[in-house]
Amino acid sequence: MFNRKKALLIDSLLIVVFVVMAASGFAVHFAGGKAFAITHSASGVLFIVLVILHIVNHAKMMKQMMKSAKNS
Ligand code: HEM
Repeated sequence: MFNRKKALLIDSLLIVVFVVMAASGFAVHFAGGKAFAITHSASGVLFIVLVILHIVNHAKMMKQMMKSAKNS
């Protein structure tokens, strides 16, 4: 079920983790090093987990959208 507080937490984390993931990806490419590679891989996995949680939290809304698209 949709939870506004949970949505705010997940979405805020998505923004922060996206910035870390993108920055560390370019850092791996241009600077290299184990620390950037670990940061990038970990933030990449965390980002995917957060996207799944985001979709789960909006499941009801998505089901309703599918239903209304089907009936239109
Ligand atoms: C905004 C999204 C992302 C950007 C801009 C990005 C960018 C990059 C860049 C530029 C590299 C370096 C490639 C090279 O020149 O060697 C890289 C490597 C890599 N990326 Fe990403 N990436 C993103 C998302 C992800 C995600 C979601 C994952 C995994 C869940 C991931 C996993 C990896 C791994 C494992 C490497 C290799 C690191 C190493 O050399 O040890 N990336 N990424």
